[in-house]
Amino acid sequence: MHVFVTGASGWIGSATVDELLAAGHEVTGLARSEASAESLAAKGVAVLRGDLDDVDSLRRGAASADATIHLANKHDFANPKVSDLAEYNAVNAIGETLAGSGRRFLFAAGLMTRAQGRPATEDDPSPFPPGPEHPRGGSENLGLSFVERDVHAVSVRFAPTTHGVGDHGFIAAIATAALARGVSGYPGDGGNRWAAVHRSDAARLVRLALEQAPAGSRFHAVGEEGVTKREIAEAIGAVFDIPVVPVPEDRAVEHFGFIGRFFAMDMTATALRTREMLGWAPMGPGLVDDIVAGAYGTQIS
Ligand SMILES: NC(=O)c1ccc[n+]([C@@H]2O[C@H](COP(=O)([O-])OP(=O)(O)OC[C@H]3O[C@@H](n4cnc5c(N)ncnc54)[C@H](OP(=O)(O)O)[C@@H]3O)[C@@H](O)[C@H]2O)c1
Repeated sequence: MHVFVTGASGWIGSATVDELLAAGHEVTGLARSEASAESLAAKGVAVLRGDLDDVDSLRRGAASADATIHLANKHDFANPKVSDLAEYNAVNAIGETLAGSGRRFLFAAGLMTRAQGRPATEDDPSPFPPGPEHPRGGSENLGLSFVERDVHAVSVRFAPTTHGVGDHGFIAAIATAALARGVSGYPGDGGNRWAAVHRSDAARLVRLALEQAPAGSRFHAVGEEGVTKREIAEAIGAVFDIPVVPVPEDRAVEHFGFIGRFFAMDMTATALRTREMLGWAPMGPGLVDDIVAGAYGTQIS
């Protein structure tokens, strides 16, 4: 298949591109900078220069490929509305371009919080209607709505930590806060959990979902249902040889920075349906093993 990938230079996207190429697919990657274009070209990926703010570039990429995987995201955590609007516009533009074509459109989503009092499942719909004013622009429901217009749309919800060596995401931010403060904190009593997945497993899941998933499916890129915040803090404390301390939940943002809001949340999920439907079995190391092995740095002294 010829696959157009947005976010092809990103954390999950670059592993996904490697996975697609290894499986024999042809890839065109969206690149917004010369540096990203060069790194993609070095892998043998065709480059489409463009930007999330230039939805015509997204339309051109989607129109020219057999399938589209949308992983780009502005991740403007200081101004989430900027990212939400861009996500809404991108999913809308790609969906409109593919309408009536029957072509595959796989896009990234996040896990639901445990508002329902149990780990989220693939059957739990996103509570957010389409609209730039909603988290992620309500893009899961927006993207899946294109199934009615003959788009083979599929959602993959990534665990809040898609971890591994080189990760610059949430766990890296928590490790950075620990180093800056000289203590490794956990919010509240440390019992809240995050689902986790290794990047290599996430990328393989994206490829399998692209190849096999029925239209309208939702998948969970979740290798571990929930790792407690205390376990995460203890692992970071061990590698940096610093004390592990509780942080009151109402001081989480002050202590951890922007990530404090998410770190205090309980976000657990199962992937039973995903495993059954795709024959996916996570193989990468767990989150604590990755941290202890030094994926986020090692002892300072
Ligand atoms: N990583 C996780 O743990 C996690 C968890 C839940 C959901 N997700 C979702 O999964 C998707 C992929 O995440 P990720 O961790 O791979 O993100 P990432 O490492 O931050 O990569 C983001 C990608 O988007 C591109 N991008 C950013 N702004 C852009 C713009 N204005 N125009 C065009 N491209 C732009 C980046 O290009 P450059 O390389 O040029 O900067 C990069 O390729 C995102 O939707 C994310 O929200 C990730």
